[in-house]
Amino acid sequence: MSAAGEIPDGTTPIDPDEREGLRFKHVTTRGELDQLEQVNIQNGLRWLRRRRRSDMLTEAFMRELHRRLFGEVWSWAGTFRRTEKNIGVDPIQISVQLRMLLDDARFWVENDTYAPLEAAARFHHRLVQIHCFANGNGRHARIAADVYLRECFAHAPIDWAAGHDLVKESARRDAYIAALRAADAGDYSALMAFVGAP
Ligand SMILES: Nc1ncnc2c1ncn2[C@@H]1O[C@H](COP(=O)(O)OP(=O)(O)O)[C@@H](O)[C@H]1O
Ligand SMILES: [Mg+2]
Repeated sequence: MSAAGEIPDGTTPIDPDEREGLRFKHVTTRGELDQLEQVNIQNGLRWLRRRRRSDMLTEAFMRELHRRLFGEVWSWAGTFRRTEKNIGVDPIQISVQLRMLLDDARFWVENDTYAPLEAAARFHHRLVQIHCFANGNGRHARIAADVYLRECFAHAPIDWAAGHDLVKESARRDAYIAALRAADAGDYSALMAFVGAP
C-alpha cells in the first residue's frame, strides 16, 4: 500500500516526469485515470482483434501493443521506461532482456518445451519482471500472454480476473501478486495454479 492508501500493492509509482505525459491534464483521481485507461484498453483490444496477423514475438509488436492500449492516455506509451522502478531491470537492460525473452518464448513453441498455459505463465512473469514501460506493465503483459496463447498455441486465453477486478485490491489480485513473487524466487507452482495449468 502507498502512503496515500489508494495505490494497491504491486503497482508502479508514476514519476513526476512520467505524469507530464498524461494527455488529460484535468485528471485528479485514481478512479478517473482508471476509467480513461479502461476506454483506451478497449480500443486497443479492438485494434488487436482487427489487425493483420504478424509475428507477435518481436520488440516492435510488444511496443505497438502497449501504445495501442495506453497511447490515448500517456504520450510515452510504447516507449521503454528510462527511470528505475521498484520492480524491473535496469532501464538500459530492457531491450536486451526483452529480446532474450522473445527468443526463449519462440523456442518454447518450436520445441514443445511447456504446455501452452505454462509457457504463457512463464512468458507473462518474465515480461512483468523486465517491466518494459513506466506503467501498464501488468495489463500489457496479461494481454500479451493471451496473444501468445492464441497466436502461437491456438489456445484459449487465461481467465486472469476470474470475475474479480485485478487492477484494484481484491483477494484475486493478492493471490496474483503473491504468485508472481514466488515465481521471482523460482517457484512457479502458485502461478501455474493461478492460470489454471493442470
Ligand atoms: N514481485 C513482482 N514480480 C514480478 N512482477 C510483479 C511483481 N509485483 C507486481 N508485478 C507486476 O507488475 C504489475 C504492476 O506494474 P504496472 O506497470 O503498474 O502495471 P499496471 O499499471 O498494468 O498495473 C502487476 O500487475 C504485476 O503484473
Ligand atoms: Mg500501474
